[in-house]
Amino acid sequence: MAEENAGLKGVVVGSSALSDVEEQGSLIYRGYDIRDLAEHATYEEVAHLLLKGKLPSQKELYAFNRELGMRRSLPKELVKAMELFRRRAHPMDMLRTSVSLLGCVEKNNTDTLTKAIDILAKMPALIANNWRLTHGKSYVAPTRSNGQAWNFLYMLKDERPDEDAVKLLDTTLILYAEHGFNASTFAARVTASTLSDIHAAITTGIGTLKGPLHGGANEKAMAMLKDIGSVEKAEGYVLKKLAEHEKIMGFGHREYKSGDPRAKLLKELGRKLTDGTPNEKWYRIAEKVEEVMMREKQLFPNVDFPCGYVYYALGIPIELYTPLFAMSRVAGWSAHILEQLENNTLIRPRSEYSGPRGLKYVAIAERKG
Ligand SMILES: CC(C)(COP(=O)(O)OP(=O)(O)OC[C@H]1O[C@@H](n2cnc3c(N)ncnc32)[C@H](O)[C@@H]1OP(=O)(O)O)[C@@H](O)C(=O)NCCC(=O)NCCS
Repeated sequence: MAEENAGLKGVVVGSSALSDVEEQGSLIYRGYDIRDLAEHATYEEVAHLLLKGKLPSQKELYAFNRELGMRRSLPKELVKAMELFRRRAHPMDMLRTSVSLLGCVEKNNTDTLTKAIDILAKMPALIANNWRLTHGKSYVAPTRSNGQAWNFLYMLKDERPDEDAVKLLDTTLILYAEHGFNASTFAARVTASTLSDIHAAITTGIGTLKGPLHGGANEKAMAMLKDIGSVEKAEGYVLKKLAEHEKIMGFGHREYKSGDPRAKLLKELGRKLTDGTPNEKWYRIAEKVEEVMMREKQLFPNVDFPCGYVYYALGIPIELYTPLFAMSRVAGWSAHILEQLENNTLIRPRSEYSGPRGLKYVAIAERKG
């Protein structure tokens, strides 16, 4: 395989009607500009758009929200199993295992779309309660009313969330919902293409998203800002990392070469959120890191960079940032799984053999070493 195609760089492996990532810096979901959706829609409308192919009418949205509400609570057997997770388990590992377990305890006689909606509805309760149970806190049941973002914040803190915080979290969920053939989506499609089940495919997606080169970057980006500690130290910190050939998490992108539109949008929301508050410090450090990265590497921040300080300012524990990405992206993964199944072909590429040939079997007693 040609070196420039390593990691499937630039290789088109299929078509999709779900989203388009344009190098110039725009992103559309089923034809709608992400900026338009982030400003006007709710995450539930976007999930409906991705899963059911259209923005819902008022009546359709009511029915969709009602279904999410009805499916939001967790089966007792699953909660029991969640109680077994040890404190040091990473929330992404707990989420991956919980979704897999859900596939074992739920009734299996429904269609894939219904199962997708079921998994999506349960994500806030899984993430918030896995965190609560491993931090010595009691289980908090979700409500049937309100949206995904509201329920997540409510369960996490066991109190009615602030509406501005809900709105901002909801916007991040819209921005994270779908992104073409990114690594976790592609992995989920590969699993679906074998005609395995949706719980297996979503579990694949979660496992793939965890890595710091993908969704794990939002946690690493905030951890880095904390490590830097002050605006004065930012430049030296970044230069040292670059000199040691280390990557700065939350920068660069496989597709966008002139900036990630989600990052621009979220940065502005982060600025407004932190302005004049103690959290403004993180925004200022981030700005300095951006400046140095642009000057030294001509690299733009991706969505995970501002996401770090926005979630931090919302008081969300750092280890839950990537699970929140998953709570949103489950809409995109599921839509891709459904799209794959609509016209399925097993995804099974070839590899170019680079090992030796013609070796003869040597009896074990005669082998050296
Ligand atoms: C996202 C990412 C994996 C894209 O990778 P890619 O398209 O394979 O690009 P590469 O990793 O080959 O990087 C190309 C060049 O830019 C540099 N680069 C890319 N991202 C960088 C970063 N975050 N920090 C420092 N240098 C970076 C690479 O070192 C490489 O430089 P070189 O040509 O001198 O070796 C990569 O930018 C990265 O690892 N970013 C950090 C992790 C992250 O934020 N992930 C979330 C993505 S939404």
